[in-house]
Amino acid sequence: MRPALIPALSAALTVGIALIPPPSVAAKPNPNAPSEIIDSRSAAQKFGATLKEALQQAMQSGGAVNGIAVCHDKAGQIAAELSQQLGMLVGRTSLKIRNPANAPDNWELAVLKQFDARKAQGEPVDKLEFFAVIDDDQGQKTFRYMKAIPTAALCLGCHGENISPEVDAKLKALYPNDAARGFREGDLRGAFTLAKPLQ
Ligand code: HEC
Repeated sequence: MRPALIPALSAALTVGIALIPPPSVAAKPNPNAPSEIIDSRSAAQKFGATLKEALQQAMQSGGAVNGIAVCHDKAGQIAAELSQQLGMLVGRTSLKIRNPANAPDNWELAVLKQFDARKAQGEPVDKLEFFAVIDDDQGQKTFRYMKAIPTAALCLGCHGENISPEVDAKLKALYPNDAARGFREGDLRGAFTLAKPLQ
């Protein structure tokens, strides 16, 4: 994406806070989180819960092979529906991706690496989040938010180190360049990524 994002990100990292809230809010001694943060947290939570529910249902009725269809067909559909409903773009990304359409842009890549570093310093994966207001060349401001996704036991059948031959065959057919394997419980699997234009 735009190289201008990187200085903005490193500035935010240096001061240890993201680029919002705006000065008027930041000046208050005990500011409430701006609505974009609250909305993003609840959107990420909703997206995760909806995906997990669809996945668990599919796996109960047909195991991991059946679950692949849900991730393949429904993950994008659920993301599109939520994006429409919430007025913000909702997606998932990772340093090791399965679907190339989920590849991180430069800002997301920097945040994923930051999450990795914070995890290495002992922060719990399920608490990792980051946000910033990004200005593009045309003066458009976008609020961007990411929330880390930990690897749970439920994920290992399709993202773990020991994938069954049936699941492996189906994954290979659908995703010839699949890199989203070899994870262990507690690893950083990826992140929810949200974007909301501000003006
Ligand atoms: C039944 C198999 C299956 C299980 C179980 C599963 N996934 Fe996936 N996962 C997939 C498939 C297939 C994709 C590709 C979806 C697509 O085409 O967008 C995927 C994609 C993802 C992505 C998007 C980034 C990428 O690699 O393309 C994330 C993040 C992710 N999974 C996290 C998880 C987590 C966390 C769990 C456990 C809670 C989990 N998955 C469980 C099959 C699975």
